Amino acid sequence: MTDSRALLNFDSQATTPCAPEVFAAMEPYWNQIWGNASNRQSRIGLQASAAVGLAREQLAEYLHVKPERLIFTSGATEANNLALLGYARARSLELGQPGHLITVSTEHKSVIGPLKQLQKEGFRLTEIDPASDGLLYPEQLVQAFEKDTFLVSVMMANNEIGVLQPLDQLAELCQQRGVVFHSDAVQAVGKINFEIDKIGINLLTFSGHKIYGPKGIGALVIQENTPILPLQWGGGQEHGIRPGTIPVPLVVGLAKAAEIAFEELDIAQVRLFNLRNELWNGLREKIPDVMLNGSMEHRLPNNLNITIPGIRGRLLHQYLRPFMTCSSGSACSNGEPSHVLMALGRSKFEAESSLRLSLGRYTTIEHIKEAVFLITKVVSDLRKE
Ligand SMILES: Cc1ncc(COP(=O)(O)O)c(C=O)c1O
Repeated sequence: MTDSRALLNFDSQATTPCAPEVFAAMEPYWNQIWGNASNRQSRIGLQASAAVGLAREQLAEYLHVKPERLIFTSGATEANNLALLGYARARSLELGQPGHLITVSTEHKSVIGPLKQLQKEGFRLTEIDPASDGLLYPEQLVQAFEKDTFLVSVMMANNEIGVLQPLDQLAELCQQRGVVFHSDAVQAVGKINFEIDKIGINLLTFSGHKIYGPKGIGALVIQENTPILPLQWGGGQEHGIRPGTIPVPLVVGLAKAAEIAFEELDIAQVRLFNLRNELWNGLREKIPDVMLNGSMEHRLPNNLNITIPGIRGRLLHQYLRPFMTCSSGSACSNGEPSHVLMALGRSKFEAESSLRLSLGRYTTIEHIKEAVFLITKVVSDLRKE
């Protein structure tokens, strides 16, 4: 299948279309097996409950966790809020006082937002600026720890620059100090191989719509001995941590999307890595002063983020828009220059004249060639103006 839009799609990290297999797997659960998964008194409710149970087991297997550790949410934004607000508030109740939290300034807004809220509630927050390659080095984390640090949140793969943080080393430092480690793994699940327990992650977030699943579904993995206070109260679903009727079709779709993503992962990684490198080499050849944002070595295979010097970002995007979709920052940045690129030391002007080019399942070598041609032409036209 190719992308249904005529536009070149280089924005797969923003979202992805629902895969046809996912669509088909969800279909019966909208109007045939439409029962409430919490209602085990009716046959249709039991069927819905069995479908949710199966989906939970499948997802748990892919992630190497126990099924009961998975809490379904409306997406990663909710899962991040639940993890950070839920754990910090539970811990401070135990301790009788708020404590110290650590994160990186290049996190997604759905991590920074709840942490800022916790700051308003009396917790202290350290936001570490990464090194200029976008990575958080273990010694930076060591320096940030305080006596009462009890929560660290570092994303696995950055949504703008694609860098892969050295999570095993960071998590180990947390483990040594009894500090809970949360990771937003939205951009990594189904894209790279990892094992939550081997790394030492206590709380992990992911979302359906980045892996060709439906929008409006995600999950939080909560490992043992990690108390979470709910953000809402109701019917007691999801162990009372996230009450509310479970959206059965979306849960089934999430599991199907994960099944496909995990099945194709090894091959897809290599394919995307090669395509991405073609893109980077093509652009470098035609635009020799193009700058790379973030480490190339520690990076998702499907991400490229570049700055084109001396060009107005607004015009660059305006000229590209009729032909291709890509972004200057995260999908949720509301037109602001990227806080991630600025944390790496790029100026506002440079951040604006940057492109995040993210590849996906349907990207082909022809698309790469077209993108190189298009970007080169737009840059050359703009430089003549
Ligand atoms: C790293 C990261 N975290 C969180 C989110 C939010 O995910 P959702 O749209 O499922 O709320 C996104 C999506 O843009 C993301 O890329």
